[in-house]
Amino acid sequence: MKQRLVLVGFGNVGQGLLEILLKKRQELQARYGYEFVVVGIADVAWGTAYNPNGLNIEALLKAGKARQKFSQDLKEWDALTLIKESDANVVCELAFTNLQTGEPAISHCKAAFSAGKHVVTSNKGPAALAYRELKTMADEKGLRFLIEGTVMSGTPVLNLCAGPLAGCEIIAARGILNGTTNYILTQMEGGMSYDEALKKAQELGYAEADPSGDVEGYDARGKVTILANVVMNTSLKIAEVSCKGITGITLQDIEKAKKAGSRWKLIGSIKKEENRVTASVAPEMLPLTHPLAGVMGATNAITFTTDLLGDVSIVGPGAGRTETGFSILSDLLKI
Ligand SMILES: NC(=O)c1ccc[n+]([C@@H]2O[C@H](COP(=O)([O-])OP(=O)(O)OC[C@H]3O[C@@H](n4cnc5c(N)ncnc54)[C@H](OP(=O)(O)O)[C@@H]3O)[C@@H](O)[C@H]2O)c1
Repeated sequence: MKQRLVLVGFGNVGQGLLEILLKKRQELQARYGYEFVVVGIADVAWGTAYNPNGLNIEALLKAGKARQKFSQDLKEWDALTLIKESDANVVCELAFTNLQTGEPAISHCKAAFSAGKHVVTSNKGPAALAYRELKTMADEKGLRFLIEGTVMSGTPVLNLCAGPLAGCEIIAARGILNGTTNYILTQMEGGMSYDEALKKAQELGYAEADPSGDVEGYDARGKVTILANVVMNTSLKIAEVSCKGITGITLQDIEKAKKAGSRWKLIGSIKKEENRVTASVAPEMLPLTHPLAGVMGATNAITFTTDLLGDVSIVGPGAGRTETGFSILSDLLKI
């Protein structure tokens, strides 16, 4: 049976996903027997397009590239109406992350489950703020709520724990979960001031005009909350995760660490002690011999401490249009 997809949000990730699906259509069918049709897209900037026989992906991508509104198969529907009215069986929720309320994405996910549709998302809002509620809703209806792209983009972190590491208990995890702050710290080690490094990160598109989500540690805190709830099967609230960013780190601190054979990293941690899970985000001075100390620039990494295998680490991209598009593809294949 062909997977029938609806996309909510057609920014970097939505377009990245369609580029991959278009390029790999034959390969996906030949290797995995995977067939798909994109029946709908809703985006506040591009409008809503719907055609139960399938949208023209090339035309959609052309509109995306030219930043022009959709011109074919138009509907006067918002995202919620598209989710409810379309005959899709999977909704890809790729709209903006809101770590205060999780909206409108939480409502998109709930509408999808109510309409009998699976949800695949890279949006941290629903995953960090309402994972347990949404997973229960999906489970009760025999549907999937898959969120690989919410932590370390396409680098398989959640699927690693659910798949190859199944059978191991994850006792702790420590990771570099935010590429922007790791890039800034790397540049500061090269002698740049915090302000110069932040400006460079903004020029390269790593940091937003308002960088607080990254530099204050809030983005990493969202990811740590997701990890705790998914990997350790708990119900941690984002406000229960202590959070300190990198804004207080000076060039003097960087020099001091260098002299001590160490390096500053913004570390997200979770650990289980006597069945209680605690989590935090804070800058730490790691000895250069530590596996996470060698992870430089915008790259992400995480080390899981397990009962049967000891430490297992994975290093990879934490952002990017194709990388995050891949996370959505891997969850679509899982369904
Ligand atoms: N890009 C990455 O590397 C990456 C990595 C991991 C996770 N993510 C997450 O993946 C999601 C998508 O990221 P992105 O980079 O593609 O973001 P993006 O480029 O900003 O695209 C999001 C799109 O969603 C649209 N949108 C906002 N509210 C909407 C609504 N209510 N209904 C329909 N569309 C709506 C936005 O329109 P306007 O611009 O007009 O608001 C925008 O076109 C985000 O939650 C992000 O945090 C991204």
